[in-house]
Amino acid sequence: MAKETGFSVRGVQVFPGFLDVPEQVALLAELRRVVAAAPLFSPQTRMGGKMSVRMTSAGEYGWYSDRRGYRYVTEHPLTGAPWPPIPPAALAVWRAVAGVARLPECCLVNFYQGAARMGLHQDRDEADFTMPVVSISLGDEARFRIGSVERGGKTESVWLRSGDVAVLAGPARLVHHGVDKVAEGSSTLLPRGGRINLTMRVVT
Ligand code: SIN
Ligand code: FE2
Repeated sequence: MAKETGFSVRGVQVFPGFLDVPEQVALLAELRRVVAAAPLFSPQTRMGGKMSVRMTSAGEYGWYSDRRGYRYVTEHPLTGAPWPPIPPAALAVWRAVAGVARLPECCLVNFYQGAARMGLHQDRDEADFTMPVVSISLGDEARFRIGSVERGGKTESVWLRSGDVAVLAGPARLVHHGVDKVAEGSSTLLPRGGRINLTMRVVT
């Protein structure tokens, strides 16, 4: 893990190549166990549509969405089981970059395939916005868009590649962000292609 090479885009700290390839492979193996215990699903939006990203979670809480809105839940919506533990390799990244004593209570796993993308949004279902959100990207490259805390206005984008880490903290904790597109086939980490993004959060 190499932290010193970061830069900032609209206050979001980006650490390119934070995880080297063996570290990415090790994290992927841990994520396979997470997905085996807590299968990926496509959350519904409040409007009744299906999100194009498939998701699951690890930790005490998992992020969930349906017609009733966005929230954290303590059980997998389909299996009813508690979420599996957050992979130690992901926790190690949190410890290295989060800069807070608390540990994450949710590791949201987003899986992008084909035309999957994510519209601009804020991560604001957590109780304490002094706690950062730490993101790890694996697999195909994604164009990550960053706006402001306020709705609308200027945005900038940055390509997040396999092994890159991004931190939303401080004044950038509540910036709008999203994924415009994923460059299919730009990485060979995932045998069948696609992109995985992990976001770790303190929920309570
Ligand atoms: C998210 O905002 O939940 C995901 C961000 C990403 O996929 O990079
Ligand atoms: Fe987000």
